[in-house]
Amino acid sequence: MEQVYIKDLKDHKEKEVLLQGWVYNFRSSGSIAFLQVRDGSGFTQAVVVKDEVSEDTWKEVERMTIESSVEVSGVVSQHPKKEDVFELQANEVKILQLAEEYPIGKKEHGPDFLLNQRHLWLRSPKQASIQKVRNTVINATYEYLAQEGFTKFDSPILTPTSCEGTTELFEMEYFDLGKAYLTQSGQLYLEAGIFALGKVFDFGPVFRAEKSKTRRHLTEFWMMDAEMAFYSHEDSMKLQENLISYIAEKVIERNLSDLEILERDVEKLKKVKAPFDRMTYHEAVKKLQELGSDIKDGEDLGGDDEDLIMKETDKPLFIERWPAEIKAFYMRKDENGLALCSDLIAPEGHGEVIGGSERETDYETLKKRMEEEKLPMDAFEWYLDLRKYGSVQHSGFGYGLERLTGWMCGIHHVRETIPFPRMINRITP
Ligand code: 4AD
Ligand code: MG
Repeated sequence: MEQVYIKDLKDHKEKEVLLQGWVYNFRSSGSIAFLQVRDGSGFTQAVVVKDEVSEDTWKEVERMTIESSVEVSGVVSQHPKKEDVFELQANEVKILQLAEEYPIGKKEHGPDFLLNQRHLWLRSPKQASIQKVRNTVINATYEYLAQEGFTKFDSPILTPTSCEGTTELFEMEYFDLGKAYLTQSGQLYLEAGIFALGKVFDFGPVFRAEKSKTRRHLTEFWMMDAEMAFYSHEDSMKLQENLISYIAEKVIERNLSDLEILERDVEKLKKVKAPFDRMTYHEAVKKLQELGSDIKDGEDLGGDDEDLIMKETDKPLFIERWPAEIKAFYMRKDENGLALCSDLIAPEGHGEVIGGSERETDYETLKKRMEEEKLPMDAFEWYLDLRKYGSVQHSGFGYGLERLTGWMCGIHHVRETIPFPRMINRITP
């Protein structure tokens, strides 16, 4: 008898197969039982008829509990009404481990309870679907960047300096060498990579110690940074919109059943197609003021502002050319002294998903800005070196995997898009 995964049942119609999985629900009338089984690849129902199975099998059915692990063998049959649904007419049921009373029930649970049970909550269909979409986002990113000629270039997690601002750092003692910090983004190291490899990207965990308690902030999250030699700010934005469009297309292609479980409006995702909308920072502030925001020119956009400006559109929006003072030291300025950068804002309330910019390439200009910001020049010497040996125009960007996944899934809070979220008030499980 062949052992199969639930997703492949369709290829074994009328054949006897063996499944291994978990019983996530069941009911019994006393003479017939329906076991809802999940195996990580899909969901199915095993029908057990008392008169048609051995006494031992029926005993197993009678002591069944939710989340018990099981082995079921039976004949694959098409659902009488649904063409693409396949069930098992069970011949034998064996409990591998009889689960204790499962703490997550059918009734509504609060988010704190569920997050405390995160190690179990991940089994629920919605949570598993989110992880499958996240997986597609990751794979599609690797695929697309490989097609575009990128080399994966792993940046370090332990660093001697800050990349995005010193107030957001997790700090530790590093042997005899003083303080070390958990990285906020691999960008600066990628900038070294382009001189060897042209186009590079990294993809890994980054850390932010900012005390933000919003639905868009985690203290540990995954970032994909990309950096490209000989790319202008404009070239970089084109790459960003093409990458995001490709990801959305692949999610629709590969995760339709997950999107259904998540009740995601797929029509909205179909609109994620390059070219995206564009607006300058100054235009954005003006528009926000018209819409009733109290934002002043020169101020950073808050989460509320991001939501407000996206209210009337379901297309992603680049907000570009920001006041240099509120952006990072490494950004190049345009002819008006504005930072040549952009934030990509997702529609439907998912906020900023990408930050990117063209980088300053001139040694003296960069050094002066770093001194003004009182950055530790010793630790940045290697970074400045890059402007001494064949400096070239280059640009790059970074996306937050959790925000991007949340957007694809239509999930409101980023804490559900990472297996084990780290927030300022949570580090377990
Ligand atoms: O805009 P950020 O801070 O940009 C950088 O770190 C650049 N060095 C990237 C680069 O140019 N290579 O962060 C990039 C993205 C944000 O747009 C957002 O999607 C996500 O990372 N992000 C967070 N996601 C979850 N929790 C947080 N606390 C986040 N902070 C940023
Ligand atoms: Mg940003």
